[in-house]
Amino acid sequence: MDFNEQALTNRLSGRYIGSGIRFFNEVESTNDVAFNLALHGAPEGTIVIADLQTKGRGRMKRVWQSPPRCNLYTSIVLRPLTDPASTSQIPLMTGVAAADALSRYCPRDVTLKWPNDVQIRGKKVCGILAEMKTAKDPRGNFVIVGIGVNINIRKKNFDESFREIATSLKEETGRDISRLDFAVEFFDNFEKWYRTWLKMGFEPVREAWLAYASMVGRQVQVVFQGDVRTGEVHGIDESGAMLLEDENGIIKKIMAGDATLVRH
Ligand code: BTN
Repeated sequence: MDFNEQALTNRLSGRYIGSGIRFFNEVESTNDVAFNLALHGAPEGTIVIADLQTKGRGRMKRVWQSPPRCNLYTSIVLRPLTDPASTSQIPLMTGVAAADALSRYCPRDVTLKWPNDVQIRGKKVCGILAEMKTAKDPRGNFVIVGIGVNINIRKKNFDESFREIATSLKEETGRDISRLDFAVEFFDNFEKWYRTWLKMGFEPVREAWLAYASMVGRQVQVVFQGDVRTGEVHGIDESGAMLLEDENGIIKKIMAGDATLVRH
């Protein structure tokens, strides 16, 4: 089945997320396109999808490998009328939606690694990059949530530095996966979790996130801008920060960084 604007429009008809769809053969970054559309008034639920990104961006100014016609690169425009502080919960909510969608293909093998990497059997399959704009008038606030999912990329085509730590749905299932079917599954789950979050707040999201979490109760090392912290993970708080118990039994909030398990 072709993966294009018409096919997505047909399959997402009547949905809130996907009420506007912009499909591109090539962009620098879907997050940049969505950001510009939002600046010009694009409504909540607009999605931008591209077949290829030439400047796909990851967290911490990293490159997101975005080869043509094999993966999902998408960004969603959100305009939640919630307290701007709670927008830090959106990437975690998105991680839960992606984990639910991926679990349809690899049941029981999907985990979430703080802050919002989605993994299959311990290898990264999906990354999330949220960017926000605050305006004087809060009705002008918006959040762009960008999602990259490795769908049919082969192991040999990952950059060498990712080859052992990243994976794709095709590598994990051994078959070609329809990008259209996966995208619809993901957007449906995203809409469900976004509505839940708006209506009920972070608690149901946190519970679902913790059920997928691979690090709770384990010793980890968190590195952020040269600062290294180690401790046992206790969970996440309402801002999405990691709660880390240090060797003195003091629980610290870790707002950002890269976490790895410490093996003894
Ligand atoms: C990460 O794990 O570092 C986040 C990766 C986010 C990648 C997606 S792909 C679609 C959107 N456009 C971008 O340039 N980045 C995000």
